[in-house]
Amino acid sequence: MKKQLFSIALGAALVSCGPSVPQLGKASLDDVIAAMTLEEKGHLIVGTGMAGFSGDSAVIGETRKLVPGAAGTTYPIERLGIPAVVLADGPAGLRINPTRDGDSATYYCTHFPIGTLLASTWDQELVENVGKAIGNEVLEYGADVLLAPALNIHRNPLCGRNFEYYSEDPVVAGKIAAAYVRGVQSNGVGTSIKHFAANNQETNRMGTDAHISPRTLREIYLKGFEITVKESAPWTVMSSYNYLNGIYTSENKELLTTLLRDEWGFGGMVMTDWFGGKNVVAQMEAGNDMLQPGTDKQYEAIVQAVKDGRLDEAILDRNVKRILEMILQTPHFKGYKFSNKPDLKAHAAVTRQSATEGMVLLKNDNSALPLAADVKNVALFGCTSYDFIAGGTGSGNVNRAYTVSLLDGLNNAGYTVDDALKAAYEQYLASEKDRLAKTKKEWFMPDVRPAEMALTPQTIQEQAAKADVALITLGRTSGEFLDRKLSDFNLSREETEMLQAVCKTFHAAGKKVVVVLNIGGVIETASWKAQPDAILCAWQAGQEGGNSVADVLSGKASPSGKLPMTFPVKFDDAASSANFPIDMTANIDITNAGDKKSDVKNVDYTDYEEGIYVGYRYFDSFGKAVSYPFGYGLSYTTFEYANPAIKADNGIYTVTVDVKNTGKAAGKEVVQLYVSAPGNAAMEKPEKELKAFAKTRELQPGEAATVTLTVKAADLASYDEASSSWVVDAGNYKFLIGASSRDIKAALGADVAAATQKTNDILKLQTPLNLLKK
Ligand code: BGC
Repeated sequence: MKKQLFSIALGAALVSCGPSVPQLGKASLDDVIAAMTLEEKGHLIVGTGMAGFSGDSAVIGETRKLVPGAAGTTYPIERLGIPAVVLADGPAGLRINPTRDGDSATYYCTHFPIGTLLASTWDQELVENVGKAIGNEVLEYGADVLLAPALNIHRNPLCGRNFEYYSEDPVVAGKIAAAYVRGVQSNGVGTSIKHFAANNQETNRMGTDAHISPRTLREIYLKGFEITVKESAPWTVMSSYNYLNGIYTSENKELLTTLLRDEWGFGGMVMTDWFGGKNVVAQMEAGNDMLQPGTDKQYEAIVQAVKDGRLDEAILDRNVKRILEMILQTPHFKGYKFSNKPDLKAHAAVTRQSATEGMVLLKNDNSALPLAADVKNVALFGCTSYDFIAGGTGSGNVNRAYTVSLLDGLNNAGYTVDDALKAAYEQYLASEKDRLAKTKKEWFMPDVRPAEMALTPQTIQEQAAKADVALITLGRTSGEFLDRKLSDFNLSREETEMLQAVCKTFHAAGKKVVVVLNIGGVIETASWKAQPDAILCAWQAGQEGGNSVADVLSGKASPSGKLPMTFPVKFDDAASSANFPIDMTANIDITNAGDKKSDVKNVDYTDYEEGIYVGYRYFDSFGKAVSYPFGYGLSYTTFEYANPAIKADNGIYTVTVDVKNTGKAAGKEVVQLYVSAPGNAAMEKPEKELKAFAKTRELQPGEAATVTLTVKAADLASYDEASSSWVVDAGNYKFLIGASSRDIKAALGADVAAATQKTNDILKLQTPLNLLKK
């Protein structure tokens, strides 16, 4: 790379003589592009290579530090006034290095709640505000584009990156992602919505081929991206690593041009995921404008392809233009003087408060929560209570200054935790972590958590005598490169024993047991949920996690989150579990995707045979029992739904319902609107589908609010592959107002007229799938 830079420098020096060299922002883009050498175009397309990994940007003849720890930079061309701009992860906050060589200042960022928690708030305004705070850190630390949000569908509980993603439902994923994008971009920085598309497993993520029918794609895996593109205009889209129906997404013109740009009207730039795809000519032609982080090999291949006539330079110019359009909007281009001092204190308050609103109260027998006023002494069990998990690993991690554990959070809230128990856990954790750190091969791989510490009956007995209540935290972590294992979904023997023993002993002493789930994805709950008095799914709640949980436990905040996915009874119950890599070895080669193979099922290829029946669309259509349904979540208060009504006006259906707080505490309620389409003999229809949702403001006891939800007739369409159209069948549709997918409060009917919208006939399967049918 160095040698090349030198020769480009020479060439550039020759070209740059004279005052008439067009400058970005001053001359027209076409003039700037016309002044670029082929080599300069090649470099702009591929970025600055691995240097970008440490935030270094290659500049002609030197290397300049931009934002260390950022994932990548674009290639600067100073003679044309084109600066390097900085691309940095990620979904839970800005990921950069917290310290720098020879610099005593620190560059910590706020670790906000994980994507799944944000989606569990079902609150678009709240997510937009979190996005605003994240975007402010992007701006003030000198980055330009945040590599987030990540909105792939939770197809299966075991996907290792579900924590970064939002939901099993595309409307939730799309609306939440759009809110996040609006918030981040309100700072004048960009986003990159990812991973487009169908990156639903981590196992062999760079070599696996997702076999998905066009209908399933359009209705499930692409819908959230469509909503986000249309409702928030993200600056960039990141293509995914995987193949989709035989073609790498980054090489797929139907996906990146016909669908994304022509059908949806996307006007921004597309970049690869890091080292994604293989054939640069196909990538350029597909409309994958930029290759990140960029390698010498890619650069050489592009330049050579133009020289050989295998790649039309006009295509390169088109892609270069899109990159320049993006650069023109950036703080770096505009010369923004960033402070390196975002208001971390204010953002800590944002994450602490927003996290409480995405926590889901799964069980609360006899009002075990909030903890009664006379509860002072807490018996705190579970390693994770003392070593709270802020978020997942890999590019979704954030280098934060601290993580508030549940222990710290409880202490801050005035509770007392037994010193002896604390000492035992801390000692155990220190030795286990030391041991496990030695087994970790790469920094970016998911952490291995210590097994639960064994407790003697005597220890539990002593605690039950002393404490007012028992809290048990169950923890899980995961990250990119690996899917979770079945053993991670199920409770371990040690966890089961701890739960049983603590519940038995505390209940015998007339004391309650509360379980806190500090998890990034779905776990098994059906076999043990009867034992504790209350279960709070706190997710991975960011750096203030322990404080946020304590706010909820103490009743300072009322939980108002609801599940954006189903908790099945057993892992096998999910329809996708029949075609998911379970306990397979991962491919961790991040720089070189292997040759396309097709032999090992669920590793080299995955058949999405469940089709549209993902999550509640499956469980509800097939009448399967679940542990906790989609959209479910309790509150410290209760709500009554009254006066449901529907109005149709020019293809817009407006549903209203009065929600009244009938309990004794203040609270917010998430209201969901599902639609059940009339039967169609020729087409599978899910029993119901979510079409809109809203959250009330905080309602005081006795207070009511009217919730309004709107659905457009076009939103009622299913995708018909035979005619490659979105088709709304004529008939009477049921509009179901629900507190969850299994708690429908009112059903309204409306007659809907037939409508059809033709699309391109694209993204077809190469071989037919044996699709699940009702
Ligand atoms: C991840 C992306 C991330 C990129 C840059 C990849 O491994 O899949 O989500 O943005 O790295 O860090």
